Amino acid sequence: MSGLDKKTGKTVERPGEGAAGFSKNGFILAAIGSSVGLGNMWKFPYITGENGGAAFFLLFILCLVVVGLPILLAEMTIGRGGRGNASSSLFNLTNKKHWKWFGLISIITAFLIMSYYSVVAGWTLHYMIQSFAGALSDVNMDYAGAFLGFAGGYMPIFWSALVMAITGFVIAKGVSGGIEKFNKILIPGFLILLLIMMVRALTLPGAMEGAEFFLKPDFSKLNEESVLIALGHSFFSLSLGMGCMLTYGSYVRKDQSLGKATLAIGAGDLLYAFIAGLVIFPTVFAYGMEPSSGVGLAFIALPAAFAQMPLGFLFGGVFFLLLAIAALTSAVSILEVPVAYAMEQWKWSRKKTATIMATLAFLLGVPSALSVEGADGPLSNVLLFGKTIFDLFDFSTSYILMPVGGLIITLFTGYAWKRAGEEAGLTGGIYRTWMFLLRYVCPLLIILIFLYSVGVLKFS
Ligand code: PFF
Repeated sequence: MSGLDKKTGKTVERPGEGAAGFSKNGFILAAIGSSVGLGNMWKFPYITGENGGAAFFLLFILCLVVVGLPILLAEMTIGRGGRGNASSSLFNLTNKKHWKWFGLISIITAFLIMSYYSVVAGWTLHYMIQSFAGALSDVNMDYAGAFLGFAGGYMPIFWSALVMAITGFVIAKGVSGGIEKFNKILIPGFLILLLIMMVRALTLPGAMEGAEFFLKPDFSKLNEESVLIALGHSFFSLSLGMGCMLTYGSYVRKDQSLGKATLAIGAGDLLYAFIAGLVIFPTVFAYGMEPSSGVGLAFIALPAAFAQMPLGFLFGGVFFLLLAIAALTSAVSILEVPVAYAMEQWKWSRKKTATIMATLAFLLGVPSALSVEGADGPLSNVLLFGKTIFDLFDFSTSYILMPVGGLIITLFTGYAWKRAGEEAGLTGGIYRTWMFLLRYVCPLLIILIFLYSVGVLKFS
């Protein structure tokens, strides 16, 4: 059996996965691939711009350090110590049944996230191809109308199916032969292309205005709400609270330093978000576009800006290629959570599990694909709890289930599992600080995010 050796109390290798797990660098790259996603590429730059630029960036770093990194380390430590999936690892380390059920919540969360994340990932593939083909090069095109027309039609179903097929294929190839290889090729390539895009963006006439919008610290724009936004985003950005880093952690070698990995992943996530901001804002400002929010920024304002840029079809295409890579490497990590669970639980083969899970997540995503708000899609008018299906999946996972999953991890590591420090390789002051953060600071802040998200806590 995997997990805890009953006689020695020590954790044992996960059968079958030991040899086929991550190499040291492969793990870091795969974890960075998971954390760097759609969240970094358009959400982070936008919320930074709106919340005081560099002031918010500093706040985000603080949230990453105080909440994000301790939970990231906790997740990876549980995975490596428990040598199981996001549910069985908790059980293996305590032998208590209820932890298995708590762990199950994060597996369901991952499955739900996968269903709509693949829809947005699909949009990026469509926009990449359209851009390379020159179909987005007309300066007079109505980019808002084009996006809403596309997102409101049936084509997104095809694109999300393609995303699921790619994701399922990578996962079916295994941890080292699939997930690691995929990230090892894409993540360094991603950085090179992103840097080229940054140089292009920063050398546009008028680019500095955009860089200023992103980087000029304006502490007067920071308020309680900014703190919660920064906290919530540090969570989403590091892929926490849904068993993802835990599952990846279960494939990590015993001689890998999890502390160093935590720092590398945190730094990687910040770096990619920072450079993405230096691509997006200079581009948008150079062509007089509004730095509008979320979906609108990436799929409306930016295509309109690229249309005006010399060789815009190429730069626009590369931009959407980057979004697609970011989304796919994250999607792989999300789907691996239910796949690892089903493989262990029902003893299915990896291929069979990947196929079944990708298909199920795809089917679950179809209602999301057809219900984008404002796009007048076939299901856009169906409202549940006052939200479209797409928004309901997004809201319930990002603001309710992920914080709950994070809380479970902090309580488990802080109170239930006594040997976390040993597995994480932490001693002395660093260990005590980690425990202090996990026991008191993180749970409190997560509960605040939660109360704020569900509207119980309001700031006027
Ligand atoms: N971290 C990803 C992003 O910033 O887009 C999203 C994500 C990936 C969330 C994996 C959760 C997850 F498990």
